[in-house]
Amino acid sequence: MKTLVIGTGGREHALALALSRDPGVSEVHAAPGNPGIAAVASLHEVDPMSGGSVADLAESLGVDLVVVGPEAPLVAGVADAVRERGIAVFGPSGAAARLEGSKAFSKDVMEAAGVPTARARTCESEAEVEAALDAFGAPYVVKDDALAAGKGVVVTRERAEALAHAGLCTSRGSGRVVVEEFLDGPEVSLFAICDGATAYALQPAQDFKRIFDGGRGPNTGGMGSYTPLAWAQPDLASVVLDRVVRPTLAEMSRRGAPFVGCLYVGLALTESGPRVIEFNVRFGDPDIQPVLAVLESPLGALLAAAAGGRLADVPPPAFRDAAAVTVVLASAGYPESSSKGDVITGADAAGRGPDVDVIHAGTALSGDDLVTAGGRVLAVRALGRDVADARARAYAAADLISFDGLQRRGDIAAEPLGVVEGASVR
Ligand code: AMP
Ligand code: GLY
Repeated sequence: MKTLVIGTGGREHALALALSRDPGVSEVHAAPGNPGIAAVASLHEVDPMSGGSVADLAESLGVDLVVVGPEAPLVAGVADAVRERGIAVFGPSGAAARLEGSKAFSKDVMEAAGVPTARARTCESEAEVEAALDAFGAPYVVKDDALAAGKGVVVTRERAEALAHAGLCTSRGSGRVVVEEFLDGPEVSLFAICDGATAYALQPAQDFKRIFDGGRGPNTGGMGSYTPLAWAQPDLASVVLDRVVRPTLAEMSRRGAPFVGCLYVGLALTESGPRVIEFNVRFGDPDIQPVLAVLESPLGALLAAAAGGRLADVPPPAFRDAAAVTVVLASAGYPESSSKGDVITGADAAGRGPDVDVIHAGTALSGDDLVTAGGRVLAVRALGRDVADARARAYAAADLISFDGLQRRGDIAAEPLGVVEGASVR
């Protein structure tokens, strides 16, 4: 099978790596890719937001499967353009990608499907926002309706801060803002591989979202992740498939927008059971990285079966009896800004460790030097016999890498229990 991965980040590097290790995959192509992906795939230039260009590339390479990594091209309908040419694509249509593209749409689907989630109100005026804040009480949760690259959500006890963020959201984009009830409990990422009707869950993972140790500081795209979660209920994946994923797939089909791709269920494990914090329509980064490290089943066959609407024909994914931990290395200024062009040393040496992968997220080549080119720069992922072992290996490898202004957390996967990280309030 020939595959093409669309995107430039750590998620796409992890996907390309897993595909390159699948004996059923003969070629891995990536576009635009990054310097790390170049080691495991042939890179091509493409505008990932242009469906026509992505479809032309897929056609000229003669690939059997296109995997669209990030949300922006999915929301823009890039998967539709590829599918229209008769090429199998793992990733939802633009219509189905609204599950991530619009918080209000996603809430509406959850409500219609009876999915357990936070109570929420979509507001368009300050008066509506004030009424919603008072109805739910503190801590306040205020979400931009539109895609905001992880910066759209504010969780705060300060009413003034909540109001100010709501004002910012209503002044741009759709003019809508979602105010919702605070969900208290550890956060878990569950990825469901979907073919429109059937779904298989991958093993749950946890993402460390805040920039500083102990869950302090602003939200980021994710500073580290691990799996398995020994402290989570053993039937979590099947409970979420039954209560969340299957009803959502049924509702999306009923609306004429069947969901094919990865439904990323962001959950809070509350006292009253798992409740959905958000849906995304793609794999999470870095949360998917440790999950792919322990995935025993061939990734190419799984994604191709989902893309082809025949997921029930392949066995559910199997996982190794092992653990994996990913530690993200970010550049100076992240998450408010990022520093480009800082020379990175030690990445090759770190990647030579046994069962260690150095995954590129925001890197570039400057002459012979590998340099920073984004907020999250590299992710060091290690496999181990248990979480403590994987964690020790990941940090030992990460210690070999340096660049000016490097930021990383020291407590990824350190807590035996779920860190109530995401739910911590600034
Ligand atoms: P989202 O973009 O919806 O994933 O939100 C980003 C982060 O804000 C989540 O990962 C949570 O940490 C936090 N968050 C969002 N919604 C809620 C909620 N209803 N209750 C508590 N925390 C939330
Ligand atoms: N790590 C969170 C995300 O990918 O949205």
